[in-house]
Amino acid sequence: MPPQRPDGPFDWIDAQRARRRRAGLVRELRPRPADSPLLDLACNDYLGLAHHPEVTAAAAEAAARWGAGSTGSRLVTGSTELHAELEAELADFCGFEAALVFSSGYTANLAAVTALTGQGALVVSDAGNHASLIDGCRLSRAEVEVVAHAEPEAVAKVLDGHRGRALAVTDSVFSVDGDAAPLARLAEACRAHGAGLLIDDAHGLGVLGAAGRGAPHAAGLAGAPDVVATATLSKALGSQGGVVLGPAKVVEHLVNTARTFIFDTGLNPAAAGAALAALRLLRREPDRAARARAVADALYRGLTDAGLSAVRPDASVVSVRAPSPEAAVRWAADCRAAGVLVGCFRPPSVPDGISRLRLTARADLTDEQVAEALAVVRRTAPVAENGRP
Ligand SMILES: Cc1ncc(COP(=O)(O)O)c(C=O)c1O
Repeated sequence: MPPQRPDGPFDWIDAQRARRRRAGLVRELRPRPADSPLLDLACNDYLGLAHHPEVTAAAAEAAARWGAGSTGSRLVTGSTELHAELEAELADFCGFEAALVFSSGYTANLAAVTALTGQGALVVSDAGNHASLIDGCRLSRAEVEVVAHAEPEAVAKVLDGHRGRALAVTDSVFSVDGDAAPLARLAEACRAHGAGLLIDDAHGLGVLGAAGRGAPHAAGLAGAPDVVATATLSKALGSQGGVVLGPAKVVEHLVNTARTFIFDTGLNPAAAGAALAALRLLRREPDRAARARAVADALYRGLTDAGLSAVRPDASVVSVRAPSPEAAVRWAADCRAAGVLVGCFRPPSVPDGISRLRLTARADLTDEQVAEALAVVRRTAPVAENGRP
């Protein structure tokens, strides 16, 4: 007889739950009604395309034509002509030789990092990278060196001592503070050492570069033989899914080796149809990207003018610091009660332990809505001990 345990197998969860509660770090689901009256500055729908009639109609048409699901892995029955069309147009728009779509940005990142590294390789990862890149590093079985945030010199230093396969990985725009990576200098450091550069452009696609072609395009790195980019279809494109963009041989390699491509059901046809329609809209209406950046700038100026500690945004993410996790939660709740929805970032989602509110600069917000959101965020700001917000 194995020894009896005094507790049930999941009772350890109670202690963790109590600890979370004491630290003000409990997370709760709050279902969003379809017709919410709140002014939404929390979502990632940067260009306001998720509800665009052309995008939702394309999703419905794709579901009617190709089915509610893609029916299998891309290598079995899950590859449709719609997927091929989306991949060709994404590659063309972003300036890369080839593209491969995935069921999410998360799985695209896992695929890119694992398939391009492996045992014996070195991955150099920015300390501010998104969880999906971090998990890619963990799954890769490569040697992983985490380097100081946005410091190409630190990347070069780690690469200096390494012989063999190496890959530097970075977000183009960091999720927490909305600051941009120094892509051109990173590419230089990688090239000097024969390393590849993987750029996660989740927050850049649709917002940065001419007409929103993305951060790699803006940095002159799109289509380079030593650069691979990933992106999500769930932010600026208002849909769902992910993509890896790069040289054709990289895409062919992913088709043959990336576990999150091979063992995952293909991207949902409705999501593929919606992303394709959004991409075509973006080509037709290129000013959307510039408008998103202008809204971000207006939010930043309005926050800093009020003495709040905001970070200058490089794309659509505007981050403002809160004195504590509890204060951030209360601030976000007060904004919500006043009709404005904002994001709330607390540990463990922030690498430096500093809690923040995160505001999304959507291209479809009017100047009046921006002013209203600013008035609410400023009015509800916590007051620190020095009496300043
Ligand atoms: C920087 C970054 N990379 C990857 C992802 C994952 O994308 P997805 O939500 O499509 O899985 C996200 C977002 O959620 C992100 O912010």
